[in-house]
Amino acid sequence: MRAVILVGGEGTRMRPLTCNMPKPMLPVVNRPFLEHMLDYLKRYGISDVVLSMCYRPDVIQAHFGDGRSFGVELAYAVEQTPLGTAGAVKNAEQHVDETCFVFNGDILTDLDLRAMLEFHRRVGAKVTIALTPVEDPTAYGLVETDADRRIRRFTEKPAPDQVTTNLINAGTYIIEPEVLGLVPPDTFYMFERGLFPLLLEKGEPMFGFPSHSYWIDIGTPQKYLAVHHDILLGHVSLQPPGERAGDGLLAGKDCIVDPTARIVGPVVLGDRVSLGPEASIIGPVVIGNDCQVGSGSTVEEAVVWNGTSIGEKVTVKASVAAARCTIADGAIIDGAIIADGCSIGSGNRLERGIKVWPGATLAPNTITF
Ligand code: GDD
Ligand code: MG
Repeated sequence: MRAVILVGGEGTRMRPLTCNMPKPMLPVVNRPFLEHMLDYLKRYGISDVVLSMCYRPDVIQAHFGDGRSFGVELAYAVEQTPLGTAGAVKNAEQHVDETCFVFNGDILTDLDLRAMLEFHRRVGAKVTIALTPVEDPTAYGLVETDADRRIRRFTEKPAPDQVTTNLINAGTYIIEPEVLGLVPPDTFYMFERGLFPLLLEKGEPMFGFPSHSYWIDIGTPQKYLAVHHDILLGHVSLQPPGERAGDGLLAGKDCIVDPTARIVGPVVLGDRVSLGPEASIIGPVVIGNDCQVGSGSTVEEAVVWNGTSIGEKVTVKASVAAARCTIADGAIIDGAIIADGCSIGSGNRLERGIKVWPGATLAPNTITF
């Protein structure tokens, strides 16, 4: 079985974490998110995968190569300019010669793909769209169905007064190859605003497949923190890397934890992490490889990427500190997003959704309000 994964978006809502890296490469519990997706696909015997790319394809290709070392056969379809979701699959049409899965590349879910495929075949759909309930459908594609699950209307990013159901497009599709015949080549064209409404107009059989499986779109820094909470709290079947090293603690190789450090799980540490005297790590927390946390510092409900060094008496809370940052003594990072390679001088207070762009240097006590 073949799948196309859409990984071409710029991830603008996820900036500054996506300034140098496409969204599917962001580490989720210390592994690029796309690795988790490929594991999920393999669980259903899907090992023939086309990555449909546009933004920073180099980063993805350099990591995955031909896919063999990840247990999959990868092909790449690269767009010179964004072709939109359906245009992107059209661009990979040479690989789509039979019933095919299409995935948005920013969704973590436990959806049962086998059951979805059985449904698709049983009802004879041209397109089946996985559906999930959400509290606020306005950020998604709203899908109305009949009692027999046939789709009646598709409204992308509905206005509040257009919301008639809580079911939205969950970003997993099964398509029959002939529907790509309706997609114009080399043209920006979306499933959501183009092909789906067109198929409805033509009366083609398009069905929804609702489920209550775990589902999240990892599209913003808040969702990025939320997905870590969910994984660490066991709300989704994804096993974080590391060996059990204590109550609620998974740790990689060669970590050095001072005996006076306090760890309240769930906590995941990468390889070679060092925690100084009286450091407090209060989960859910994920800390990447080669990170240091100095004495008396607190890391709480936060995600820290590889190679970041946290000084003494620092607080990092409800925040993301990306790779190779230095956070000097006494800094307070609370509800902030710090991109790769930043140097935060001592005494800075970064709070309330502040975002620091890659490579920034903040001199000591620059932001203290
Ligand atoms: N190759 C390629 N080219 N990929 C693209 C392009 C493109 O031009 N545009 C977007 N993508 C990829 C993104 O990388 C992402 O994996 C996926 O398509 C969806 O794009 P998002 O930008 O994340 O869309 P969204 O979250 O606002 O809305 C979509 O997903 C919702 C579910 O999370 C829509 O499909 C909604 O209908 C849906 O409810
Ligand atoms: Mg999305």
